[in-house]
Amino acid sequence: MFMTFEGIEGSGKTTQIQLLARFLRSKGREVVTTKEPGGTLLGHAIRQWLLTPTEPFSSQYSELLLFYVDRLEHVAKVVQPALEAGKVVLCDRFIDSTIAYQKGGRGMPETLIDTLTWVVPLRPNLTFLLDLSVEEGLKRAKNRAELDRFEHESLAFHTRVRNTYLDQAQKEPDRIKLISVENRSIEEVAEKIQTLLKP
Ligand code: TYD
Repeated sequence: MFMTFEGIEGSGKTTQIQLLARFLRSKGREVVTTKEPGGTLLGHAIRQWLLTPTEPFSSQYSELLLFYVDRLEHVAKVVQPALEAGKVVLCDRFIDSTIAYQKGGRGMPETLIDTLTWVVPLRPNLTFLLDLSVEEGLKRAKNRAELDRFEHESLAFHTRVRNTYLDQAQKEPDRIKLISVENRSIEEVAEKIQTLLKP
């Protein structure tokens, strides 16, 4: 089973992945937790470039293609082998992030994103979209650490990202489970995820 976690900055994906991994392990499952960008050695280096705000790209295509180099290596070296070994894979961000950030946020052409999506045929069985207001998400992200390239983007950018995520969830309700995390404790969100997972 391949599950992904999506959401804007500050939505709490990392914490929820850890909690779900612990829950599944307590049920005897073998679980691999991973993330994009940065799930491989090469991906780790790519991640530095992608997130460093002081190193602007001369073209937004460079950014998009780097996310795909990261993804191709990550799927081949980490995700696919774990799935073939019967493990549960929990991944922090995947293709839906590209649709939300590069198509929605950056406004890159849909046909190009669709073509790249086709290059990686793997799709998650289940995706948890953790949703909260952009204002609250950015506030949480700002309290966390130094801001990365994306966290420096405008409120309008992050609003487009959030709206694109919500559109995606509407288009694919069977795969993408929308969970509002605003005014909900970490434990409440974790419980909701476990309930959605049961069927
Ligand atoms: P990260 O620190 O992992 O963000 P977070 O902790 O919020 O998950 O940084 C990843 C950033 O990269 C995040 O702002 C979203 C962005 N991103 C894209 O723009 N496109 C993509 O395809 C992926 C995977 C991430």
